[in-house]
Amino acid sequence: MSVATATMAGATTESRLPSVDHWRSRPRNTAAPTFPESNNMRKTAVLGAIALMGLSPLTIASDFDKGKQVFTQEAQPSCTICHTLADAGSAGAIGPDLDELKPTMEQVVNAVTSGVGVMPAFNESLSEEQINAVAHYVATVTGGNK
Ligand code: HEC
Repeated sequence: MSVATATMAGATTESRLPSVDHWRSRPRNTAAPTFPESNNMRKTAVLGAIALMGLSPLTIASDFDKGKQVFTQEAQPSCTICHTLADAGSAGAIGPDLDELKPTMEQVVNAVTSGVGVMPAFNESLSEEQINAVAHYVATVTGGNK
């Protein structure tokens, strides 16, 4: 959505461009009949562009957001208490700094499912879907998936 907003903001600043000045300087009676139509077409084009840009990233983003939510809220105790992860704004120091560790998705799934050392297992409190989502999220924001 932010890309779409930027595009729309861009379109607003463009109102100072020659084409619009040209329209303004036209005599009213000749400009009026054509303007509403082209304005509608422009609106349609902008809405179409938003739909194209918006839809698929949204589906991906919701998975990502789900994982972030597990990391920051749903896991009990919260991952944020023990781990530092810049994207989640956490600075826990009991477990390793995940930005430095850059764990793979599989590594996160294993750690969260079975626990490691003092880190508790979450297989009773989180669903497989939540564990996969948080693993995907952590590996993505740290670059561990590469
Ligand atoms: C009570 C503190 C605590 C909580 C809560 C916690 N962890 Fe950990 N975590 C640790 C500690 C400590 C280690 C290091 C364990 C070791 O290596 O002995 C660790 C290790 C890890 C590792 C590295 C595993 C590896 O392969 O080396 C990952 C990834 C991880 N945690 C992710 C998470 C996620 C995601 C959550 C939330 C679902 C979470 N942790 C919650 C303390 C915690």
